[in-house]
Amino acid sequence: MTELTVVVLAAGGGTRMKSKTPKVLHEVCGRSMVGHVLAAVRELGPSRVVTVVGHQRELVEPHVAGLLPDAVVAVQEEQLGTAHAVRVAVEAVGHDGLGGTVLVAYGDTPLLRAESLRRLLDDHAADGNAVTVLSGVVVEPFGYGRIVRGGGGVVEAIVEERDATDEQRAINEINSGILAFDAAFLADALGRIGNDNAKGEYYLTDAVALARAAGLPVGARPVDDPAEIEGANDRAQLAALGRLLNQRIVTGWMREGVTVVDPATTWIDADAELAPDVTVLPGVQLLGATKVEEDAVVGPDSTLRDCEVGAGAKVVRTHAELAVIGAEANVGPFSYLRPGTVLGAKGKIGGFVETKNATIGDGAKVPHLSYVGDAEIGEGANIGAGTIFANYDGVDKHRTTVGKHAKTGSNNTFVAPVSIGDGAGTGGGTVVRGVVPAGALAVSAGPMRIMEGWAQRRRPGTEQAAAAEAAGPGTAGEHEASHNASQRVGETPAGASES
Ligand code: UD1
Ligand code: CA
Repeated sequence: MTELTVVVLAAGGGTRMKSKTPKVLHEVCGRSMVGHVLAAVRELGPSRVVTVVGHQRELVEPHVAGLLPDAVVAVQEEQLGTAHAVRVAVEAVGHDGLGGTVLVAYGDTPLLRAESLRRLLDDHAADGNAVTVLSGVVVEPFGYGRIVRGGGGVVEAIVEERDATDEQRAINEINSGILAFDAAFLADALGRIGNDNAKGEYYLTDAVALARAAGLPVGARPVDDPAEIEGANDRAQLAALGRLLNQRIVTGWMREGVTVVDPATTWIDADAELAPDVTVLPGVQLLGATKVEEDAVVGPDSTLRDCEVGAGAKVVRTHAELAVIGAEANVGPFSYLRPGTVLGAKGKIGGFVETKNATIGDGAKVPHLSYVGDAEIGEGANIGAGTIFANYDGVDKHRTTVGKHAKTGSNNTFVAPVSIGDGAGTGGGTVVRGVVPAGALAVSAGPMRIMEGWAQRRRPGTEQAAAAEAAGPGTAGEHEASHNASQRVGETPAGASES
């Protein structure tokens, strides 16, 4: 294999983004634009990658180093043109260190695929070219450099918009900016390219005419899908490219056996992974490094960022981040899983439940209206409706543990630190502090007091009093059972909810 150096140009300002974030760091599908380009480049297995930085390099440089620690970073202090940028890259490597092929790409073309680069390099090698251009045949060539072909279709030059004649402006084959060079030719050409043009810049594209003047072969290969070579210069283009990339990703997963009911409202980041027979319902965003195992159903209307969803789990109308959802578990609707949530196999986090830093064991359930923070809940335990794990005392956070198969009552408050033993229980409305031993029942609500005839005495003349009067003296009506329960406080876990 011949030596391959890839130069990624990312020194430009990107003023049309109107952003404090450098253009190439703007994200589509969960990755920066330059991150997409570097990912495609990495697939080529190059000998070295040189990234040219300039504008806001204090932000771009560490970002690139984080993505590709081996990459050489070359600093272009002043942006004097694409040829100048490549010269800076070549100088960073050292002319002597450079052989084989040099591939130049831009940092703002997030849809670029390794496959297209590979085809360009294959053509370049097969034809023994000095320069091979990845071109594009487009409907609207305005602003691009045009590929000027002579007799027999031979590529003679690339002419920039501002330097083109009317006739040349009518050409709809454009320069993507991605070019493959013979390294020796490039080093020579960079020394000869001047800046005598409309923009007063050193144009890399001038290398084409220099090669032709020297009688060296030049080629141009149109890319199959022109979107691949499109750059995002403003936020509208960024969104348009994001939608196209998302479409590509979603279609890719469907081809791998994932059911996506509504591709138009499904957003899957580049780093997410889905197994065959996953079903994604409308309005779902699978973001970051989210991983979904087979037969899981996600949605509708759910956002998962950096989550793991186990096989056969169901996640309905849920917002989750850095959470692990076990196999065949159920989450939602309307659940909020914050970082550090780990739900076991066949577990449940139900409606209007918020969890954070909480391990919920296999088959354990938090079915309704609860906050579970800094907790460990044992397998098979059931947390009653409306339970608050009060983890914060205003100064420090404390943990709560609930043992295996414990059953806690509704409307409890666990004032952490709390430890509820295996098989223990709590009564409805209990405020738990400290330790509940295994198998014990904790009840803190005082015995209920009954004041007979209160409504008739204290609310005379109201519909309430009339209803009480009609029911007759001392009658509990259909609520007799709950009246009796109050007499037996300490014997039954009144108010436990289960589902
Ligand atoms: C360039 C090409 C044009 C092509 C178009 C495709 C030249 C002379 N023209 O034009 O033929 O159709 O791209 O988009 O090459 N950059 C640097 N340092 C510089 C100048 C540019 O790093 O000194 C980077 C920019 O950040 C950008 C890329 O190179 O990513 C292209 O530069 P830009 O000035 O946008 O070139 P265009 O005029 O669009
Ligand atoms: Ca441009």
